[in-house]
Amino acid sequence: MSVQTKKRKGEHVRICVSKDVQHEYNWLDDVEFVHKALTTLDYGALDTRAVFLRHRLKLPFMITGMTGGYQEARKINRALAAACEKYGIAFGLGSQRAMIENPALTETYRVRDVAPTIPIVGNIGAAQLLKYESEQINDMLKSVEADYLAVHLNTLQELVQPEGDREFAGIRERIESVAREIEYPIIIKETGAGIGWETARMFNGIFSKVAGFDVAGRGGTSWSKVEELRGGDAGPFSEWGNPTPVCIAEVSELGAFTIASGGIRNGLDAAKAIALGADIAGAACPFMRAYYKKRLDETIAQWETYLKRAMLLTNSRNIEELGQASIIITGRTAEYMLAKGINIQEYAQR
Ligand SMILES: Cc1cc2nc3c(=O)[nH]c(=O)nc-3n(C[C@H](O)[C@H](O)[C@H](O)COP(=O)(O)O)c2cc1C
Repeated sequence: MSVQTKKRKGEHVRICVSKDVQHEYNWLDDVEFVHKALTTLDYGALDTRAVFLRHRLKLPFMITGMTGGYQEARKINRALAAACEKYGIAFGLGSQRAMIENPALTETYRVRDVAPTIPIVGNIGAAQLLKYESEQINDMLKSVEADYLAVHLNTLQELVQPEGDREFAGIRERIESVAREIEYPIIIKETGAGIGWETARMFNGIFSKVAGFDVAGRGGTSWSKVEELRGGDAGPFSEWGNPTPVCIAEVSELGAFTIASGGIRNGLDAAKAIALGADIAGAACPFMRAYYKKRLDETIAQWETYLKRAMLLTNSRNIEELGQASIIITGRTAEYMLAKGINIQEYAQR
């Protein structure tokens, strides 16, 4: 079993960096800022700091969970985490299932020595929670000195994966009991099919235990496309899911800490996500590609530059003001939002 888990994690990275596995439509392209011709701020004085639950970030960004569990992953995780530390942004580990199955693989997830101050988010699939004791999950986080646990919901990916999980009964209750029993706040995340309000509100009763959501919506990496390249049958499901901007608007409206991800491809997309209501914006695939091109540093620096440009051009002094900047939502995203009863004029007439 653990050999299969190891092999799969390596294949995921290889496919994501070498094949076109993006959704056909990036819904964030339908979101535009209202340009403010008269700017009254200095570029050098822009305040990009953001809050990540109990932590503070220098920039409102996160590299979300991708890898671990095989030798090369150790190098990748350490490089990504060190870059996050340098820029003061959050870092997510990939699924830690492999290290529960084989504790010798724990070192492929250890990054705390290169990232001493930033939030490190551990990771496990919701379906795995049914198989492990809460104590094992707690130990798993402790042994890599993580601060939070991301529990990923990836039903679509599991269904397309020939060897994927098919049993999900009892998962919500299990997340609830794990949230109660472990010492770490939990972030519920998707992997590219999107958490909307219908799902987020199911955690309402345990909101004090669930610290937030990473919406991971449709518009970026398509996990059904990835699994199809590994031999699965995605059929008509490669474009299934809730679009990222819709998820951001809905989940943030519930008042939960919201990480926007799924198709965030640069600092301007991150700025749009914040204007839609997100606390911070994250991405996975673009940073893995940057790692392999040896352009990780440059990429994060460029995200910062584009974020600041968007802030200055909307006359937003800080991240809070950027969150109130006027945006126009058009095209398929506008249609989708209107169908769901989201008032898009509210974003335009701020
Ligand atoms: C190579 C790769 C591996 C991933 N592995 C995990 C994982 O182990 N656990 C998880 O929760 N999400 C995983 N993801 C999903 C991402 O965290 C993210 O939610 C998704 O890819 C959408 O973001 P993107 O469009 O910026 O890639 C992975 C993504 C990539 C690209």
